[in-house]
Amino acid sequence: MESTLTTTPIVRHVAELRALTGKWHREGARIAVVPTMGALHEGHLTLVRAALARADRVIVTLFVNPKQFNSPEDLAAYPRTEEADAAKLAPLGADVLFAPGGDEMYPEGFATLVRVNGLDQGLCGAFRPGHFDGVATVVTKLLNQTSADLGFFGEKDFQQLAIITRLARDLDIPCEIVGVPTVREADGLALSSRNVRLAPEDRAAAPALAAALHAARDAIEAGGPVEGAIAEARAAILTAGYSGVEYLELRRADDLARMTEATAPARLLAAAWLGGVRLIDNVAVSPA
Ligand code: PAF
Repeated sequence: MESTLTTTPIVRHVAELRALTGKWHREGARIAVVPTMGALHEGHLTLVRAALARADRVIVTLFVNPKQFNSPEDLAAYPRTEEADAAKLAPLGADVLFAPGGDEMYPEGFATLVRVNGLDQGLCGAFRPGHFDGVATVVTKLLNQTSADLGFFGEKDFQQLAIITRLARDLDIPCEIVGVPTVREADGLALSSRNVRLAPEDRAAAPALAAALHAARDAIEAGGPVEGAIAEARAAILTAGYSGVEYLELRRADDLARMTEATAPARLLAAAWLGGVRLIDNVAVSPA
């Protein structure tokens, strides 16, 4: 049932958050966290609904993490819409919006970096040096700060999801990492905060990325050669008006190892540029 609350309480300090989560755990509640950088769209709200379905208490975090940006310009341009985000969350019934300031997350002298070796190589990692170290560092902190039993992340950022799943396992963080399927527009375009930056003609061309991935998946699952399916998908994306394909690869779903044949559950992942906007998407591929 959706809540009648008109605002979601905002917590800014870790000590206050820990007091709340300690009380909730003593009461026997299962706590979920949905980490975000704000600018919430339906994809984020789907994560919150998935969290509400499995937990008694849900914390949404909002922190624009400077450590995961590749340039100060990108960081400065990132939308900050806290009030609108809180208003979108209120009807859903999330218990708390944890929105710490920069000093709370990275106080003077902060010196630790979390790196998940291997999984951060290639795909987006090849084009965004240091990005996943920033993600892994902030997510490790958020999982610790919230003491969440469950953490919800979108499959849209599949490499990120794999990295977070591994860091929770490797660092013995007692939080189950839950991947939530990508939410798509009616025409197949994966929801992303970047979609609003597309000019109308580019928005019309944008679904070609998802369409090409789905067609390549069908061809591979039907037993066709992976290399041919990938070449056709690349060509279809460029023909639709994308200016470049950064990567389009088949990787094993669990450890992101490169695959030339779909012999195990896999993922076809791509990043491509359209009208100066970088879009990413991926689809699951079952063994042929
Ligand atoms: O996916 C995101 O929005 C961010 O990378 C995350 C997980 C909130 C960490 O800052």
